[in-house]
Amino acid sequence: MAEKFRVALSSDFLKPDGSPAFPMFDRKPLSDHPNIEWAYLKQGGGPVSATELEGYDALILLAQRFARESVPKGGRLGMVARFGVGYDTVDVEACSDNGIALVITPDGVRRPVAVSIIALMLVITGKLLVKDRLTRQGPPGFAQKINHMGYGLVGRTLGSVGMGNIGAEMFRLAKPFDMTFIACDPYASPALAANLGVRLVDLETLFRESDVLAVNCLLNDETHHVVNAARISLMKPTAYLINTSRGGTVDQAALTKALQENRIAGAGLDVLDPEPPSADDPILTLDNVVLNPHALCWTDQCFAGIGAADVAAVFDLMAGKEPRGIVNRATTENAGWRAKLERNRARFAG
Ligand SMILES: NC(=O)c1ccc[n+]([C@@H]2O[C@H](COP(=O)([O-])OP(=O)(O)OC[C@H]3O[C@@H](n4cnc5c(N)ncnc54)[C@H](O)[C@@H]3O)[C@@H](O)[C@H]2O)c1
Repeated sequence: MAEKFRVALSSDFLKPDGSPAFPMFDRKPLSDHPNIEWAYLKQGGGPVSATELEGYDALILLAQRFARESVPKGGRLGMVARFGVGYDTVDVEACSDNGIALVITPDGVRRPVAVSIIALMLVITGKLLVKDRLTRQGPPGFAQKINHMGYGLVGRTLGSVGMGNIGAEMFRLAKPFDMTFIACDPYASPALAANLGVRLVDLETLFRESDVLAVNCLLNDETHHVVNAARISLMKPTAYLINTSRGGTVDQAALTKALQENRIAGAGLDVLDPEPPSADDPILTLDNVVLNPHALCWTDQCFAGIGAADVAAVFDLMAGKEPRGIVNRATTENAGWRAKLERNRARFAG
């Protein structure tokens, strides 16, 4: 019998009771494919075991760590496909050194995170949570409603730090709100900006002009605390900040102070620094911020989409094609990786 294309799923895709974590991740296309054989790895805790991974062509990885010591012998593994877009649990260099492509799933998160940003924008500018509290107070609450006007969006300026996968989708979704769009992204394509109706500006202009400012960049040395005290001081007192990127892009102490002093109107945060915050973090006591446990985009469709993107990557690799979402792009020039692609093409394409 011809050798199958072998796919491993990290052990944390099974809950301790043996039921699947994220059941909306449809494993059926893997099961139904005549040339694919897949299995859960057994070993839990610690990094993925190299011994267990031997003989596999691809790994779909949830939260478990993939370290240098996880690289299996035999040189067959061609891809580590993360279930999501974060990859701080993966030793990227070890992947690159061994001709292993690290793949993430931007296609799976684009819409769900962009929807989360729109949801936060509507909730904070519409003062939805405040009005929910008033309603529950009965007559005294209703009597207060005149003091809690929302903030209309027509003609207001929606700004973004970063205009990549999610930032661009946010602007697409926001189109019917008739807002003005601006973004700061040193690497953005002017053609994409023009297409979306976004004016590209510098950071200072972005902070000065935005009425709703969303952070949509990756967290790296350049963007750590890109929202800091100095830049917050440029914001309008009526402006709102939204962060769904990573907690570290915002200097949370500076934001907390600005919110305490009502220097800006409010904030909507899906991400914090650290996560979870300590029980005595002052940001938890503020009324002008809406908080989420880094899970606002978590929907059935989000995880179905992430799973479908990983399955698509498996099918591509099996057919000898480059999967979408490769993080370590240089690996695609690596002779070892190209040889794996060639081998797969010879085995399974056509
Ligand atoms: N909240 C969640 O559950 C969740 C889920 C997925 C992704 N995210 C986060 O959302 C953010 C955006 O993800 P994405 O998929 O759009 O990433 P992306 O890589 O497609 O886009 C990031 C953009 O930031 C730009 N950028 C880089 N340096 C910059 C700088 N100094 N100033 C301004 N822009 C800069 C890049 O050019 C790029 O266009 C990331 O931080 C990601 O980790 C959060």
